Formats: sequence, structure tokens, C-alpha cells
Amino acid sequence: MTTSLVTGATAGLGAAFARRLAAGGDGPRERHRLVLVARDAERLEQVARELREGFGAEVEVLPADLATDTGIAAVEERLRDRARPVDVLVNNAGFGNRGGFLDVPVEDELRMLTLHCEAVLRLTTAALEVMRERRRGYVVNVASVAAFMPRGTYSASKAWVVRFTEGLAQELRGSGVRFMALCPGFVRTEFHQRAGMDASRLPSFAWLDADAVAAAAVRDLALGRVVSVPSLRYKLAVGLARHVPSTLYGRVSSRAGRRYDPRG
Ligand SMILES: NC(=O)c1ccc[n+]([C@@H]2O[C@H](COP(=O)([O-])OP(=O)(O)OC[C@H]3O[C@@H](n4cnc5c(N)ncnc54)[C@H](OP(=O)(O)O)[C@@H]3O)[C@@H](O)[C@H]2O)c1
Repeated sequence: MTTSLVTGATAGLGAAFARRLAAGGDGPRERHRLVLVARDAERLEQVARELREGFGAEVEVLPADLATDTGIAAVEERLRDRARPVDVLVNNAGFGNRGGFLDVPVEDELRMLTLHCEAVLRLTTAALEVMRERRRGYVVNVASVAAFMPRGTYSASKAWVVRFTEGLAQELRGSGVRFMALCPGFVRTEFHQRAGMDASRLPSFAWLDADAVAAAAVRDLALGRVVSVPSLRYKLAVGLARHVPSTLYGRVSSRAGRRYDPRG
């Protein structure tokens, strides 16, 4: 039995991860248990039902707001439960704030840092306690191609996710636990609508499909990649970002950002 805990599992990329992990790929006899985390309890139950009916998976739901101390603590407790160990942790929950830096109240930026950084740090630490003892486990931290571009708190928080994950992969090499930062480009999910962004003007080639991103991530994890950038076009974009001066890349990405963010 493989147990995977996915945060932000009710929509977009998290729901795609949950489907991918519930489906497995290791033969019909392998059974999968999912622990789904998000704030909306009703939606969690609905996704759980779909996974039980569609894939025969065992599913637990754990409603929690990971931008709060109590929400993070509840998921830490589940990850530390040695009687029901978690093999795969996917730190995926995240959101964007609408507008430029000066438009966003600092409380909203802090909420983002709590969800994107503090929750990822604390959940990874809790999962690692058990994974290290068992000498097995996988941690996938969802970052973004934005991690490679200087563009506000969102990019900075995702850059932290990438560096944090790379550091752990290095430090815990040989421990039996693997780490991967997933850096997708634009994915069709609820993300942009929730952030109040008008993404309708983005060209269709910019968009990735959530199920395809989750499938690419699982493949890259099996290959032992530490940073996964799904699709050739975004691999090229990240390759370029690593070589072009960040001031220049920042100007280009800000201009592109303003095209789909009406307030930008
Ligand atoms: N979509 C993109 O273009 C894109 C590109 C690169 C990276 N990403 C990253 O991919 C990840 C998933 O985003 P998505 O595009 O799938 O977004 P999405 O469709 O809006 O889904 C976000 C998920 O996170 C949950 N969530 C949000 N705030 C939460 C909180 N405080 N506590 C617990 N759960 C919370 C939501 O459920 P509830 O509302 O019920 O809590 C939902 O399940 C994020 O980390 C995002 O930064 C997205």
C-alpha cells in the first residue's frame, strides 16, 4: 500500500496529482491510499468519492487551512503518524495575489509566504521524521517557472521552494528519501480566476494541461530529477532565464505579466 498526501487536492494540479497517484502504474493489485488536504471540506469529499469510484483508492480527507498555524499543525500530526506512514508528500497548495506589489495588502503577501514557505517547510520536516526512519519516501514541492524570474513575492516564494528542495536533495542524498521541485509554466486550473487575473489573452501554446503536468512530474520523480520543468517550451524558457541577466528577464516577464493582469 502506497500512501500519498496531496495538499490543494480539490482543484487544478493537486486534483490531477491525486488522480495520477490513485491510478498508480504498478499493476492492478497495488492499492493506493490518498490523504487529501484543502480548506473546502465538501469539495474534498466530492474528490474523494471520485477517486474511490474511479480508481478503487482508499481516501482520507483532511480539511485544513495551510495559511494558519492550526491548519499546518493538523497536517503535521497526520504526517507524524507512524501507524499510517505517508510515502509521498506533494506540497502543492498555492495561490496568486492580483496586482503589482504596491496593490497587494501586506497581510495577503504574508498569507502567501505562510502557505508557500512555512507550510512547505513544516510539512516536509514532519514527513521526513518518519520517512528517514523507514529509509523511503518522496517529497514533491510545487514551485513554478516564476521561481527563475524576479517578479514579486510569488516568484520569491517559489524561488525559496526550489532552493529549499535542491538543498534537501543534496543533504539527504543516500537517505532513501527523494526530493523534487516541480516548476510548471501556465497550467489551466482555477489559479488565475481565483487571483482575479484575466489570462484570456495568453496564446494557447503557453498553456499546459494539469493531468499532463502531473504525469510528467511522476515520470521525472522516477528518473531522480531534482528540478522538473514539464514541456520543452518551458525548459527552454528556464534555460534562458538561467543565462540572461535577471534585470532583463524581469523586464520582459513584467511586461508579459501586465498583458494578462488588467491591474498590473
Ligand atoms: N496554474 C498555473 O499556471 C501554475 C503555474 C505554476 C505553478 N503553479 C502552482 O501550482 C500549485 C497549484 O495551483 P493550481 O494552479 O492547481 O491552483 P488552483 O486550481 O487554484 O488550486 C489550488 C488548490 O489549493 C488549495 N488551497 C488554496 N489555498 C489553500 C490554503 N490556504 N490551505 C489549503 N489549501 C489551499 C485549493 O483548495 P481550497 O480553496 O479548498 O483550500 C485548491 O485545492 C500552486 O502552488 C501554484 O502556485 C500553478
